[in-house]
Amino acid sequence: MRPLIAGNWKMHGMAAQLREIEAMSKTVHAARTAADVLICVPAALLSRAASIAAGRIGIGGEDCHAQASGAYTGDCSADMLKDAGATTMNAGHSDRRKYHGETDAMVAAKAEPARRAGLTTIICIGETQAQRDGGNALAVCGQQIAGSVPTDLARSGTIAIAYEPLSAIGSGHVPAPGQIIEVHRKIRECLLERAGAAGADIRILYGGSVWSDNVHDILGLADVDGVLIGGASLLA
Ligand code: G3P
Repeated sequence: MRPLIAGNWKMHGMAAQLREIEAMSKTVHAARTAADVLICVPAALLSRAASIAAGRIGIGGEDCHAQASGAYTGDCSADMLKDAGATTMNAGHSDRRKYHGETDAMVAAKAEPARRAGLTTIICIGETQAQRDGGNALAVCGQQIAGSVPTDLARSGTIAIAYEPLSAIGSGHVPAPGQIIEVHRKIRECLLERAGAAGADIRILYGGSVWSDNVHDILGLADVDGVLIGGASLLA
């Protein structure tokens, strides 16, 4: 499977940083990289980022509202992300689950309008350290897949999954390879159960403290089809 290298700027970045997208997109285009490249940016930068990237790399949104339009001040619909030039969006990032109380059902409700808008949705899951310490990591990830991934979308080829164990995000602590392999294998099993053979074609990304010095090793692990990069994606 062709890997996806995705960056997630979170709530970082001003117009000046768009120069990095310009440089990166030109480099990726010239090098004909063996991976797809995507940068997810705050909604305020989306349109300009997409214009600068000019289709050489993908530009993604970081979230959307489940409704197409309405009195939801401050929110952005999937159609709006698409209209601004996005190819992809994140749903259910741990920041959204933590600070906005997003549940699996809310995440699933965002993925469907994203598909209708023509976006691929990266659905983020991952266990807390307490859940891992309690021996529940695989069960939690399985439940998150069951609750966050609509079956018809799993069959449609318009989603990816990002496994981001919370203890790894922004901490510099990447789990042991065995942990990543074990959870990705579990996710693959869940996707095959939900989507049949189509589940084999869904990319499963790893996220959490991915940097230039570990990205190659992580990409070499079984069932790792790409990475979702936070902090390191902000550095030119
Ligand atoms: O979405 C990516 C993110 O949660 C991982 O962040 O800074 O650990 O790469 P970071």
